[in-house]
Amino acid sequence: MHRLITVSNRLPKRVTKDSQGIHFSDSVGGLSTGLTSLRGTYQVAWAGWPGINSEGLTAEEKTRITERLAEEGCQPVFLSKQHLKNYYEGFCNKTIWPLFHYFPLYTVYEEKFWRYYKMVNNIFCESVLKLAGPDDYIWIHDYQLMMLPELIRNKLPDAKIGFFLHIPFPSFELFRLLPWRTELLNGLLGADLIGFHTYDYVRHFLSSTVRIIGIEHSMGTLRAGNRNVKVDAFPMSIDYEKYSAGATKPAVKKRINTIRKKVGQRKIIVSIDRLDYTKGIIERLEAFDLFLSENPQYKEKVTLILLAVPSRMGVGDYMELRKKLEGLVGRINGEHGAIGWVPVWYLYRAVSFERLLTLYSIADVALVTPLRDGMNLIAKEFIATKQDGKGVLILSEMAGAASELGEAVIVNAHNKTAIIKAIKEAIEMPIDEQVERNRLMQNRLSRYTAIRWADDFMQALMQVKKTQQMLAVNKLTQANWNTLIKAYKTSHRRLFLLDYDGTLVGFVSRPEKAGPDKKLKSLLKKLAAEQRNEIVIISGRDKETLSYWLNNLNASLISEHGAWIKEKGKDWQVIEPLLNDWKDKIRPILELYADRTPGSSVEEKDFSLVWHYRRADAELASLRLQELRDAVLNLTENLDIGVFEGSKILEVKNIGVSKGRAAERWFSKRKWDFILAAGDDYTDEDMFAVLPDNAYSIKVGHGISKARFNLDSANELKSLLGELIKE
Ligand code: ADP
Ligand code: G6P
Repeated sequence: MHRLITVSNRLPKRVTKDSQGIHFSDSVGGLSTGLTSLRGTYQVAWAGWPGINSEGLTAEEKTRITERLAEEGCQPVFLSKQHLKNYYEGFCNKTIWPLFHYFPLYTVYEEKFWRYYKMVNNIFCESVLKLAGPDDYIWIHDYQLMMLPELIRNKLPDAKIGFFLHIPFPSFELFRLLPWRTELLNGLLGADLIGFHTYDYVRHFLSSTVRIIGIEHSMGTLRAGNRNVKVDAFPMSIDYEKYSAGATKPAVKKRINTIRKKVGQRKIIVSIDRLDYTKGIIERLEAFDLFLSENPQYKEKVTLILLAVPSRMGVGDYMELRKKLEGLVGRINGEHGAIGWVPVWYLYRAVSFERLLTLYSIADVALVTPLRDGMNLIAKEFIATKQDGKGVLILSEMAGAASELGEAVIVNAHNKTAIIKAIKEAIEMPIDEQVERNRLMQNRLSRYTAIRWADDFMQALMQVKKTQQMLAVNKLTQANWNTLIKAYKTSHRRLFLLDYDGTLVGFVSRPEKAGPDKKLKSLLKKLAAEQRNEIVIISGRDKETLSYWLNNLNASLISEHGAWIKEKGKDWQVIEPLLNDWKDKIRPILELYADRTPGSSVEEKDFSLVWHYRRADAELASLRLQELRDAVLNLTENLDIGVFEGSKILEVKNIGVSKGRAAERWFSKRKWDFILAAGDDYTDEDMFAVLPDNAYSIKVGHGISKARFNLDSANELKSLLGELIKE
């Protein structure tokens, strides 16, 4: 059994203290409900806050709490009043929660909150480090702990870290408002796997990483430092059995009878949520009010049971919401009620699991209309409970659950007319139709349960770690590094084939700014000054640029991927005559795309045309790239012209030209007893392909390559070259 360290702000156990002493109970909320079901499959240790201000506890009480929670596999993270005020109520619930739920006007940006957020994430990090062994999996949950993956990664570089966000990830336009957006993204990228409820949230996250920190993804995989990070959707679900079997419990049946006796034949609508402004409770009630006004035939025929579970009462917006809600309930009951009929039964408390099941069971209609909700488990639990198939779910399209529960009556939670129509449709829906819709949803929910969800996530995490290991296999280890240096020192005829951009210098936003700095010039000069060394810079650049940048170097230059060659001490020459008339046909198309894609440009070399898009908006550029590729491929079908994609470029060039062909000229010149070839992109693969087996071929960067080894960056390669020439 794998050991799993789960970390969430709240532990699944809540500790309270009153005059009678310390009490332990289960926590309410989607997260703890979902994760409790994990314990059967994994050996779980759980770190989190026990829900109590630590200043109200004596040292002895803290020890008692720690011991008691340890029996349940939990480790408490004690937080003080100041922590709770600035981290929990502050950054978590006054900054992230409203912003990520599209309530920018409720969002408070305060430096102090942010300081506490980092501080508390550090406290959680220490707690995890006490628990985590080298082979354990660490699964971090939710928006309260977005810095934690990076903090743990800094301490345990090889850790297996998963992160799951239980709330929506907002669109870039909202996320960019956060002053600490870069830090949060980097914090999350400390994980190996980042999970969201829906694909929309995945898209939003990936769009923010590229726009804010310039990291692009390929099929949901990003590169963070020397690690692959996978981003994917895992819609969280429920413990289906617990709900489907629950309604038949005698205690539940008894309660159903009691309520039915009181309500008679009236239709029952239920509304169950934590009391939170994101849940749309006010809007829902206003719609119910209008429903009664517009449909007097339903007066005394419908009862709305409204259960609001107290939540985050230290936050002003929640206190105001409660006041507003209670005023509204009073008004509706006063205006529409009659002797013997209270339109809204309002309950403000947490209820037991049995009572919750009773409400789901007795309801003819569940009104679940959040304005925004990461997932919403209430909707799923309601459907699971309805084993006779009767009952109608009205669900907001703004809830993550809507992507899985398409057979519900789906509404826009801001549209009161739509909610009124939906209530009427639900009350009048024929039983056959109710059953048909519910069966489809039940089948889906019973297959993809909370256990499957957690298992899916863990499998994906294992897979990411495997892929990382596979990619690391070729990494030039210290041992290989030493062997290489030894081979260099003992050899007499040495050939260096070095690509330029991405290999000797990192990428910059303007290609013309990538000239060699003093350090690189001096490194290459020393390398070339050594009698036994032959240096060939083998680049895609045009010959003028290469001559200008590397003019004093005692080396050979190859430009335009092998179209031109300048042997040491000689002039530039064309390798073989090439036709260029195709350019007039292709150039206008590339220029058109440069005009339509701000930030992109066309470069013309002697034997190729290049569309550069490094400075263009990444999403627009990726769309244009596909269109441009298709357009050019269509036009060049019958020509000896190829279309190649490199690092932020699309290049159209003669097929006969390649770095491989150019490099081969050096192999026929003499016998080399040491060859080192380094490159970073697809054009260098042609060079790697023609190297003798004993050559040291190095890919700078990651991904599949014909090179024998890889290094993480241009800087690493320069350190290696630097060591070769060290006295
Ligand atoms: P959120 O996570 O925002 O609170 P969800 O609908 O996703 O909203 O999850 C709420 C969870 O809390 C559900 O699993 C539900 O069963 C549980 N819950 C809600 N109200 C109560 C209550 N009064 N007593 C016990 N559990 C509750
Ligand atoms: C949502 C969040 C959880 C949180 C829960 C209850 O489900 O995603 O992280 O635990 O609400 O909120 P609370 O502030 O009481 O922990």
